[in-house]
Amino acid sequence: MFYWENINPPWLIITSLIAVLGALFTPSWTAVFRRKAVLPTVRSRWPWQSIPRALEADPDRFFAETTRKHGPAFAVHANGRKMIYVTNATLIAAIYKNSKSFVMSPLQGLWAKNCFGFPNRMLSSPVLGDIMASMHRDLSPKVVSSLLQSLASEGCSIIDARVLPPAGKHQGLLPFILDLAFDASTRSVFGPGMAALSPAFREAFWAFDTNLPRVAFGCPPQKVPGFEKHREYLVTEIISTLKDEKHHEGSELASSCISLGVNGGWSDSDIARILLGILWPLLANAPNAIFWLFALQLQHPDGLKPLVDEIDRAWELWRKKNPGANNYVDFAKDLPELPLLKSAIDETLRYASSSYSMRQVHEEGGTAIGSYFLQPGEQVVCVTRSVHLDENIYDDPLRYDPNRFLTHTGSPTVPSHAHMPFGGGISICEGRHYAVGKIRILTVLILLEFVIELDGRSPSTVKFAPDNRGFGMIRPDGDLNVKIRRRSRPAESQK
Ligand code: HEM
Repeated sequence: MFYWENINPPWLIITSLIAVLGALFTPSWTAVFRRKAVLPTVRSRWPWQSIPRALEADPDRFFAETTRKHGPAFAVHANGRKMIYVTNATLIAAIYKNSKSFVMSPLQGLWAKNCFGFPNRMLSSPVLGDIMASMHRDLSPKVVSSLLQSLASEGCSIIDARVLPPAGKHQGLLPFILDLAFDASTRSVFGPGMAALSPAFREAFWAFDTNLPRVAFGCPPQKVPGFEKHREYLVTEIISTLKDEKHHEGSELASSCISLGVNGGWSDSDIARILLGILWPLLANAPNAIFWLFALQLQHPDGLKPLVDEIDRAWELWRKKNPGANNYVDFAKDLPELPLLKSAIDETLRYASSSYSMRQVHEEGGTAIGSYFLQPGEQVVCVTRSVHLDENIYDDPLRYDPNRFLTHTGSPTVPSHAHMPFGGGISICEGRHYAVGKIRILTVLILLEFVIELDGRSPSTVKFAPDNRGFGMIRPDGDLNVKIRRRSRPAESQK
């Protein structure tokens, strides 16, 4: 038996002292003494797994469960690197505000080099700064309207020329939307000669897109099978387009990049790499957003009807205001407010985007996130999707609700820092105004021209793919079989 009475007092004092000192000087207590907590860390269970299995299999679940367990900031060891993930709106807003401690530029250079193959001479060239400034100007809300006007014209002519399968036959929604949006975007930005119209270019583009996130996350490009091959094919095709006279019919956005590069003594390959850097978000993100808008709406009990009704009403009103006008292109260039469509677009961007904002802790002194201290050079990922799925902000966040952002008073229903499909702070998406305009215009043109219905006789499903996360719209896994036919309209309403 053990009795407290048997312990003699000096021993009790000594052992208690050792226990208290031991507890105080374990690393976590050291951090508490310095008012800094140790960041919780998640690792792969097995040494041969480069990424924690749960993160790879179901990122949404991984972030939700890890946040519940460890709070909204934690480190993950993946691919031999430590990344610090931040999953709540307040901490993300604080990171966006503190651009001195959370910097972006070292990562931008690394991506340009690894993902798009920029040689060092491009990265150190003053021309790069000039090109970024011209892109910023050409994508700004004031200037972007001319780009959107040409998108409306190109979209209309592509829709007119579209050949549909024979009546009663179904087709995949995904290729229908992606091909249409792909062609309209490339033609409006780069002119009708753009090589992107070729099927081989498309195939190489999607292969490049599939692997890009791995490279952006630090995997050396030469270790990702096929990545460099597809990228260099795209670069070669863009070079041959540059030599084609037709590219001169392209937009200001493309032509100012090309002339700044040429005047700065850049090679064709350098210029093609910059153009690939513009093409990638242009083609990968906005077309997938349009796909999700249609796919989610078709699976919603109301289907596409409320959107079609709103657009038809606006079209009739527009024709009354513009007597004699009878042209979808002019209507698409002059679209009125469409509150339901706007809400459905905002909801699609909330529900189907996975956008990371990545930062590096400034090399001098380190900084803090909440109560955690971060070392200089550490890399931080703001997981905006976790905010989009936060039950404290959004009612029933796993439900697609096209009316969620409809406001009758005009005041927003959710705070702006809780809707971040385009990231935020110093690296907020440059193309966001163009992207939203493009989703609006192409959706209107498609719904004015086609009836799209799920093919009930050939059921199909589409889910969010677990990979390729963090770079804008989630890529689909699967597709929906749809029947598409042209709408019949009274003769005077036709284009
Ligand atoms: C639905 C469509 C799109 C989505 C969801 C999207 C999303 C994003 C995201 C999440 C970022 C990173 C933001 C951050 O780090 O905080 C980004 C950056 C960027 N995006 Fe987009 N994007 C879209 C369309 C476009 C388009 C159409 C263009 C160009 C025409 C574009 C050009 C850019 C550029 C240049 C950056 C880099 C900004 C910088 O680092 O300063 N994006 N985009």
